[in-house]
Amino acid sequence: MNIILIGPPGAGKGTQAKRLVAERGMVQLSTGDMLREAKTSGSEMGQRVADVMARGELVTDEIVIGLIAEKLDTLNGAGAIFDGFPRTLAQADALGDLLERTGQQISAVVEMRVDDEALVDRITGRFTCGDCGEVYHDRTRPTVRPGICDVCGSDNMQRRADDTEDALRRRLMEYYKQTAPLLGYYYAHDRLRRVDGMAPMDQVSAEIGAVLNGG
Ligand code: AP5
Ligand code: ZN
Repeated sequence: MNIILIGPPGAGKGTQAKRLVAERGMVQLSTGDMLREAKTSGSEMGQRVADVMARGELVTDEIVIGLIAEKLDTLNGAGAIFDGFPRTLAQADALGDLLERTGQQISAVVEMRVDDEALVDRITGRFTCGDCGEVYHDRTRPTVRPGICDVCGSDNMQRRADDTEDALRRRLMEYYKQTAPLLGYYYAHDRLRRVDGMAPMDQVSAEIGAVLNGG
């Protein structure tokens, strides 16, 4: 089963994708994570996209489609959770083509709805474990021991360069301009399901679980 999580920056896509990985053995394909890895690896492409990402603009379709195509080749039949991809109509078309080549398809597209006002608080309070990727929040999801990851015990906590109010404004604009049209696209393909992303994390997980179980 392949699913797409769509929602604005801070909607909870990464948080829920990680839960699905832990609970269902699916594979998370986050283009944001892949691009950040490319940046830290010091690759030429990583350097090229770093500024674009810090400004909150979208990286080119060509780059992200290339990253996804590479990963899809390594999945060996495990279900994928697409987190932050596709983000443009060109990316959605490319994903459809890539899956079709191996006789696969998208089972559901889950739209995570969150009010714009809540996103600022979520984004500016977020920090992530640099070693295992667990996502935290200063207020709503703090670590049990200050500065120490609950999952892997690392003290390598990081904040993202694009988690500022300015970059968030740009990211939101890109979302409404380039990504929101995908909701109509997937609705027309009878794949779109909606969950209340404003609800507590466990409830969001339960709603997504119901979608995956055919509800
Ligand atoms: P990307 O990394 O994909 O970022 P994003 O889409 O902006 O989403 P975020 O990771 O910020 O948020 P999220 O929805 O995962 O929320 P999270 O679970 O962390 O992309 C970054 C950049 O890379 C883009 O701007 C672009 O430049 C480039 N890029 C990536 N993909 C691309 C593509 N396909 N095409 C072109 N460019 C691309 O949660 C946020 C916070 O809220 C956390 O602190 C969490 O603890 C908290 N939280 C989560 N759920 C809840 C809840 N239910 N209640 C309360 N708090 C919650
Ligand atoms: Zn960790």
